[in-house]
Amino acid sequence: NEIYLRGLAGTKPEFTTDLTALEQAAAEVLTPEALGYVAGGAGSGASMRANRAAFDRWQLVPRMLTNATERDLSVTLFGEVLPAPVLLAPVGVQSIVHEDGELATARAAAALKLPMILSTAASHTIEEVADANGAGPRWFQLYWPNDPDVCASILARARKAGYTALVVTLDTWSLAWRPRDLDRAYLPFIKNMGTAIPMSDPAFRSQLEKMPEDDLPTALLHWINLFTGTDKSWDQLSVLRELWDGPILLKGIQHADDARRAVDAGMDGVVVSNHGGRQVDGAAGSLEMLPSIARAVDGRAEVLFDSGVRNGSDVVKALALGAKAVLLGRPYVYGLGLGGESGVRHVLRSLLADTDITLGLTGFRRPAELSPAALHRAEG
Ligand code: FNR
Repeated sequence: NEIYLRGLAGTKPEFTTDLTALEQAAAEVLTPEALGYVAGGAGSGASMRANRAAFDRWQLVPRMLTNATERDLSVTLFGEVLPAPVLLAPVGVQSIVHEDGELATARAAAALKLPMILSTAASHTIEEVADANGAGPRWFQLYWPNDPDVCASILARARKAGYTALVVTLDTWSLAWRPRDLDRAYLPFIKNMGTAIPMSDPAFRSQLEKMPEDDLPTALLHWINLFTGTDKSWDQLSVLRELWDGPILLKGIQHADDARRAVDAGMDGVVVSNHGGRQVDGAAGSLEMLPSIARAVDGRAEVLFDSGVRNGSDVVKALALGAKAVLLGRPYVYGLGLGGESGVRHVLRSLLADTDITLGLTGFRRPAELSPAALHRAEG
C-alpha cells in the first residue's frame, strides 16, 4: 500500500522490488572484487544453479475462496515470537560491501525485529554489533575454532552481549575452491580482516603476541589454521553444550542421517544449507534435501533452511516442504551494498510483503497451514 500511495505522488521506490534483480543492481555500485566475493560460488557454480533449479521444480498450487484476507506470518522459535519466518544468514566481512558493514545490518534487522545471525568472520566486534542491534533479536554463528581458549572466549563474549541461539557452521572446515576469490587473491577479504573477529578477540591476540612476528601475514595464517581441519567429531558437540546455555543449531546439514545424528547429539535445530553453493561444487540443490531431513527430524528439533531463497514464493515453498523458517543470504548483502541500512531494510521489507501476499494468494493465512499438499512437483 505504501508503494501504491507513493506512486500517487509520482515517487518510485529507491531500490528495485525485484529481489532476483538485486545482483545486477549491486553490480553497478560494488567493485568487481566485492561483487565477486558475494556473488561467487564454489568451482563452476553448479551448486548455485542447482539451488535455484530446485525451487523451480516445486510449484505452488493456489486454492480459491479460502478467506485468506487476514494473515499472520509470525512463528515461534525457541520460545521467541518472530514477526515472520525469516532470519538474516551469517555473512562474514560485510565491510567489503559497505563501510557500515554488520552495524547497518544489525540496525535494519532490529527495525524489523528479525534475528540477525552474526558471523564469526564479522568485520565488527561482537559487542559493537550487539550495541547497534539494541533490543533486536540476535544469534551468533560459530566457525568452531581448533583452540579451546579462543572458542570459550568468543562464546562467552557472545552470550554476555545478548546473542541467544548459537549456529555452528560445519561445512566450512576448509574454504572451498572459489575461483572468483582465488583469481583476486582474496584481496578484499585480506584488506578488511584487520578488525574482524577473531582478530579482535583477546584470547586470539594473546596467542599472536607469543609468536615471533605479530604482523598481518602471521595473523592471517594463524587465523586460517584456527578454523581449518576436521578432527572434530559428533561427540565433541558436548563441549559446545557446556559453553553455551542457549539453543544450538548445526548449519550445513544436507543429509537426513546427519540430521538424525544432530538430534541424537541433543542439538536444538539444524539449518539445511549448502552455504549458498559456496562450498561443494556440484552439490545437490539444498531444497532437494529438505523433505527427507524434515521427515528424519520429525518435530524433535527445529528445521531451518537456506541457499537460494530469493523471493516470497521461495519462502512459502521452503515452509511447505518442512522448514520452520528460512535464512536469507546474498539478497540482503546486495541491499547493504546498494544503500547501507536502508538498503537492507528495503530488501527485508520487500521479502516479507512478497511472502505475505504469496501466502495469501496461494490460499493460506499462517505458515503452520502449509504442507507439501500446497505444491506440485514439475516433471523433468
Ligand atoms: C556466506 N555464508 C556464511 N555462512 C556462515 O555460516 N558464516 C559465514 O561467515 C558466511 N559468510 C558468507 C559470506 C558471503 C558473502 C555469502 C554470500 C555467504 C553462507 C550464508 O550464511 C548462507 O548459508 C548462504 O548465503 C545462503 O544462500 P543464499 O541465500 O546466498 O543463496
